[in-house]
Amino acid sequence: PPLHALISAADFQTVASHTLTPKAWAFYSSAATDLITHTQNKALTRRIMFRPRILKDVAHVSTSRTILGCSSSTPFFISPAAMARLAHPSGELALARGAAAEGIVQCISSNASYPLSAIVDAGVTDQPFFLQLYVNSDRAKTAELLRKAASLGIKGVFVTVDAPVPGKREADERIAAEAVVSAISGAVASNDKKGGGMGRLMAQYVEKRLVWQDIAWIKEVSGLPVVLKGVQSAADAVLACEYGAKGVMLSNHGGRSLDGAQPSILVLLELHRICPEIFDKLEIYVDGGFERGSDILKAVALGATAVGVGRPYLYSLTYGEEGVEHLTQVLKDELETSMRLCGITDIDDAHPGLVNTQDIDHL
Ligand code: FNR
Repeated sequence: PPLHALISAADFQTVASHTLTPKAWAFYSSAATDLITHTQNKALTRRIMFRPRILKDVAHVSTSRTILGCSSSTPFFISPAAMARLAHPSGELALARGAAAEGIVQCISSNASYPLSAIVDAGVTDQPFFLQLYVNSDRAKTAELLRKAASLGIKGVFVTVDAPVPGKREADERIAAEAVVSAISGAVASNDKKGGGMGRLMAQYVEKRLVWQDIAWIKEVSGLPVVLKGVQSAADAVLACEYGAKGVMLSNHGGRSLDGAQPSILVLLELHRICPEIFDKLEIYVDGGFERGSDILKAVALGATAVGVGRPYLYSLTYGEEGVEHLTQVLKDELETSMRLCGITDIDDAHPGLVNTQDIDHL
């Protein structure tokens, strides 16, 4: 279908399910074992209800947000996802161009198909980038990547901490891997006697010995603000603060790591209950199952600085950079409508009173 016929993130998913190669679809859409966390990420956010306010002038509305010191036209950004080239020959370059055109931030995966410099150059405008980091068990390689990121003007490092080993993604295992290499990490997709799990096989270089004390090293080598991506408890958010992180991303890797891990939205509520002061000390990001502007507004109302959107952007790449732009417009439009109907005109005015979380408060 023509791009303008797609009016929701779900529409992009439907098209991608028909047009991606079976392997690309399996790699992108899969999640760990029984998909419990993957399914509940979205389901639980949807059990939060709005408490809209009325009779406000909502003629003009602004979704602009400052994310890790960077300006963004929206309170959402592109979550890092590996091997975007499986969806489109321009892969991460198209993501960069689309993001630049829309004024949003792209967090580049350590397992991107294109070199870091090529992706940053593709952005054209001054639109900032973040880099997602998988620490290599060969630490010298990680130091080299971090220095390069800093020299290219990348604004922040999102260290992934929810995947010291890859989760078991069965749909990905069942289809033989295509021969692809990440131009950043050098990880190679291959096949072995367990199957063709690209996620698993490309994760072989990832450091299993990463500990809290290593955060200072990442900060020092890069000179950049560090966000821990994959924080799943209030206890670890508190530790992240103690160890000098600028922010945490409440994430379970889109349900691709530990199946049965609590959905990200529950972690956000846990922070309110256990360590409410953390919202003044850290920037809080969240991802996993956010597919509507209304989903995004709920997280922002609950104190998230920004929301990451993962799979929908990979699916949008079936239309190249125009798909990336169009998906951004769709989500932004839905967000603006939800804001107006909630009676707010500036995303910075979203607050917890706008949502009723009773249905999931005791989970
Ligand atoms: C990911 N994700 C991910 N995360 C990360 O830190 N480094 C990576 O290289 C990847 N790669 C990756 C590939 C694919 C195909 C997917 C779907 C996901 C996880 C990603 O950053 C994000 O946490 C989730 O995708 C968010 O959930 P949704 O929006 O996909 O539901």
